[in-house]
Amino acid sequence: MALSRAIFFVVTWITTTLIRGCLGKLDVGIHKHHSLDTWFLVTEKSSYVISAAANGYVVNMHWGKRLTHLDDLNATVTEPPIWSQVISVTEAREEVPAFGGLRYRENILKAELPKGIRELNLQYAGNATISDHSRKLDLDLRDGNRTEFLVTLHYELDIENDIIRRSYTVYNGLDKRVNLSKASSAAWHLPYALGWDEQRELTTLAGEWSQEAMVETTRLAPGVKHTVESTRGMSDHVSHPYFALSQVPNAVNPSTDVYFGALAWTGSWEITVHTDTKGYVRVTGGIHHQDFGWTLEPGESFTTPIFAAGYTDEGLPGARKRMPRHARKYQKRNLATQKDDDVFHPVLYNSWEAVTFDLSFEKQMALADKAAPLGIELFVVDDGWFGIDSPRDNDTLGLGDWDTNPKKFPNGFKPLADHVHELGMKFGLWFEGEMVNPNSDLYREHPEWVFHYDGIPEYLSRTQLVLNFGLKEVRDHIFEKVAGHIEEAGIDYIKWDFNRPMQGVTMHDYDRNPQEAWVLAVEGYYEIIARLKERFPNLWFESCSSGGGRMDLGALERTDQVWTSDNTRPDARLFIQYGASLWIPPRMKYGWVTDSSSDNRFEIPLSFRFHVSFMGGLGLGSNINEFSKEQLEKTTHWITLYKKIRHVIQNGDLDWLVPPSRVSELIAVTESIYNEGEEAVVLAFRHNSPFPATGDLSPIRLRSLDQDATYRVTIWQEDPTEPEDEYEMSGALLMYRGLELPGLNNGMFKSAVVWLQQA
Ligand code: GLA
Repeated sequence: MALSRAIFFVVTWITTTLIRGCLGKLDVGIHKHHSLDTWFLVTEKSSYVISAAANGYVVNMHWGKRLTHLDDLNATVTEPPIWSQVISVTEAREEVPAFGGLRYRENILKAELPKGIRELNLQYAGNATISDHSRKLDLDLRDGNRTEFLVTLHYELDIENDIIRRSYTVYNGLDKRVNLSKASSAAWHLPYALGWDEQRELTTLAGEWSQEAMVETTRLAPGVKHTVESTRGMSDHVSHPYFALSQVPNAVNPSTDVYFGALAWTGSWEITVHTDTKGYVRVTGGIHHQDFGWTLEPGESFTTPIFAAGYTDEGLPGARKRMPRHARKYQKRNLATQKDDDVFHPVLYNSWEAVTFDLSFEKQMALADKAAPLGIELFVVDDGWFGIDSPRDNDTLGLGDWDTNPKKFPNGFKPLADHVHELGMKFGLWFEGEMVNPNSDLYREHPEWVFHYDGIPEYLSRTQLVLNFGLKEVRDHIFEKVAGHIEEAGIDYIKWDFNRPMQGVTMHDYDRNPQEAWVLAVEGYYEIIARLKERFPNLWFESCSSGGGRMDLGALERTDQVWTSDNTRPDARLFIQYGASLWIPPRMKYGWVTDSSSDNRFEIPLSFRFHVSFMGGLGLGSNINEFSKEQLEKTTHWITLYKKIRHVIQNGDLDWLVPPSRVSELIAVTESIYNEGEEAVVLAFRHNSPFPATGDLSPIRLRSLDQDATYRVTIWQEDPTEPEDEYEMSGALLMYRGLELPGLNNGMFKSAVVWLQQA
């Protein structure tokens, strides 16, 4: 019996394999066509096809739904592009449209070659390498085969998330120097629209300090180029390097195809989106070209940062699932601290909002004593602990002097850190290593270490200046200071801040292009993180920049978590978290419960504040010294509940069933889905409204559950100790009829946490 079953399986396997072979089924991974210079980049649900088969220009042939068979492949390649320099190459969907020739759309590479030539004509050089188990592809392009100017395109597949990571390396094989004045990372080409009716909507993020990641949508219009950017030397709050382009459903194309992408660069950046009357859309992005410059001496090369982009036919929720998963995947890959999904992001306490610069050993000891019994797992000392001659009593003093202030902490941090450890918590400390106040010993000793132009005034912002992290001696000095504290006190975690934009960015006494400073500064920041992580593999690193000014993909892949915003008012936070969830993994996005949640018109309940902060990593920033006994008790219970459900929140996908709206009924609902719908957590909010909030809330239709499973539904509202309701319900009913939350009817600042577990 067993033998006949085995024979049956072997025969079936052989037959299936043969049939597949005949049809030439394209598996996931990167494949080259057997005879043509055409490559198929296949992910779970998408295909990306590039070809140099027609005339040597490397062009995109397809990006979208997955092609599955060789016959698809042949159909694609029998339609070669006929572009040439004569029939304007500007129409071509070139992978690297460079400046030069008859190219008049957005280009991504501009180089000055010897003899003043600033024109490139890049064509396939006949060399391609597929590696890393068919996940990576490198393609060489040469400048019209005329010169030794080589561009190697890099592609890397994130197969499960339908994302492709792109960058390229420019190599100067000439015997003279070459200057780059633009080196964006990639050009992405969307399929042509089918007629005028087919429209696309662009989703981008706008913002400012305390108002990060505001979602904006714009219809693409022919002839209009959209740009989102930061020119400030950091990825910044004014926008965030992310885009999504959604197909507006219509009769011709009823599906909501979405193309989305994010840049992994923590410096100045730009993303442009342009469409024309034929419905062709090009997206470009990379380092901002405004003051970019890089010199390549003979034999030198320059590699651009990664621009990752993907395709989904599951609409914006599909994009919101994929990009955070992608960031998490690379974070796990890069950081020893993040390898294990069961090591959860700790519940932290940080007294910055409660006491600002008013720090002392005694006060922090007392706060630690109060924090531990609440269930806090990480105790962080923020700004204000350093400076000897210029003690950091406010933000005009001491930045750069990373010595413990002897009046505030007479014996350094060891006694406090030891105490915190004895209480069972981890210990964290704040640094802003790339900055200096003019009123500091460091600036008095090394005024030449800050970014400045000789003879031009230095422009202060938050009374501080930016150190030139392009200089090794600066990085070494700061690294030794930070590492010294970590070693001496046994610090587990650092919060690394960056509180002003750059200016005066240049390199002095440098025989190369001084504009390189923009890139060197960012690489210096990356180097410090890498060195710290190497010396202290268990160290956790938080990326902060006046709130959420440094939470691009580049920061996400190198750090443990990000501080999303200095605005901790929970109703504002809903909007910020909505935008940030487009690309940031839930566990990396911290939210603090603070006291900044009331003004003189209303008080936002503690339950609402906790529920908003439950959406990612949980923090507490309130002045717990002033908490009543009841508030302390409730805080303990909310933290206990959070710990019970955080595996769902931190490891699940965050979906927004109802996005927060500024115009209609002020409701917002999220659903964290864990392990294919085995469990879920719903957070529902009825927030502030100028209108009487009298209506009943309609049932909320959940998503991504198992329709055949029965779920245990537990609902908490204001009391963390006593569920408001508990019952069992089928996945089908929860998804197709909806979850009723009558407790949110009639009122403002009402909220609920709902835990769904398959019974
Ligand atoms: C920035 C951060 C805050 C806090 C202060 C300290 O604004 O975003 O969380 O650390 O700096 O000066």
